[in-house]
Amino acid sequence: MANTAKKRIGILTGGGDCPGLNPAIRGCVYAAERYGYECVGLTDGWKGLVEGTTTPLNREITEYIIMKGGTILGTSRTNPVKVEDGVKKCLENFKKLDLHALVAMGGDDTLGVATKLYKDHKLNVIGVPKTMDNDLNVTDYTFGFDTSVTRAMEAAQSLLDTGASHHRIMVLEVMGRHAGWVALYTAIASAADFVCIPERTIDTSEMIRKLKESYARKRFALVVTSEAAELPAAGEDKMKHAVDQFGHRILKDRGMGEHISQFIEKQTGIETRFAVIGHMQRGGSPTLFDRMLATRVGIKAAELVHSGQFGMMSALVGNNIVGVPLENATGELKTVSKDWFDTMELMF
Ligand code: F6P
Repeated sequence: MANTAKKRIGILTGGGDCPGLNPAIRGCVYAAERYGYECVGLTDGWKGLVEGTTTPLNREITEYIIMKGGTILGTSRTNPVKVEDGVKKCLENFKKLDLHALVAMGGDDTLGVATKLYKDHKLNVIGVPKTMDNDLNVTDYTFGFDTSVTRAMEAAQSLLDTGASHHRIMVLEVMGRHAGWVALYTAIASAADFVCIPERTIDTSEMIRKLKESYARKRFALVVTSEAAELPAAGEDKMKHAVDQFGHRILKDRGMGEHISQFIEKQTGIETRFAVIGHMQRGGSPTLFDRMLATRVGIKAAELVHSGQFGMMSALVGNNIVGVPLENATGELKTVSKDWFDTMELMF
């Protein structure tokens, strides 16, 4: 008798969550089912494959998740390479769960593990790029970024209102890790007076000069800073940080917003307040752009599985969704390039 069992695709979401993961899962499930596969969710990122924990996934379950933030599969920053026998367990569970392929949705870390499993163990892996930091190479945008910047932009606008009423300088600290994209886009989009990003040493005297000038003109000012920007005068001694399983500095307690706000108040003599938007910029309903991009890269991932193009990632190039080698996307971060500095000069 012919074997009529459907081939199974496992889907996982790893690293920091971001809006768009659910639309991407949905796109992938819809396309996979059309090609005749069945899907299963691995819970909490790579932890799910290490431990073999799953949750059902099908068209019915995913029908209305397009508007939901976060990820219905759960996530974690588990790195199988750092867990005892982690990689071995991943390979064993892949077999035990009778998977034909694995779709890993994540940023540099998650996709780095996917690349390793593909290269070292020939596992049938496909990557889907996501991150609010927008710091992945080879794809023009990652879903999550548009929603997070939109949230941060709205927060910046609220700060403008209260700053203008109280005649203060307001500082907003945003996430983005070691790439300044979130800070830069938030600052441009909210008519900020100055932006601090990790890619560019802050010229503190220039910053203070500009803020005094802005304040003299309108009696308030707004600064947007990335969590990872460096304030030379603050000194790294106050900025200690633990690292996660992927060796990244945990930046949340670093307090860049507070440091910079104290520095500005001291140098200008103008009352200054700071706010940290933190994880609020990572939750909530995805924007239209993110819903569409996520859906498209999710669909493409299922197509790549179906055509057997393992070791690839779905990417946005121009307005097309294409397959690119996973290893080209990981390893080196896409940070704010020098050609943006001229735009920064113009806008701030
Ligand atoms: O990589 C996404 C991100 O939100 C970064 O911008 C931020 O530095 C980090 O994750 C925060 O991680 P966690 O949610 O583990 O505190």
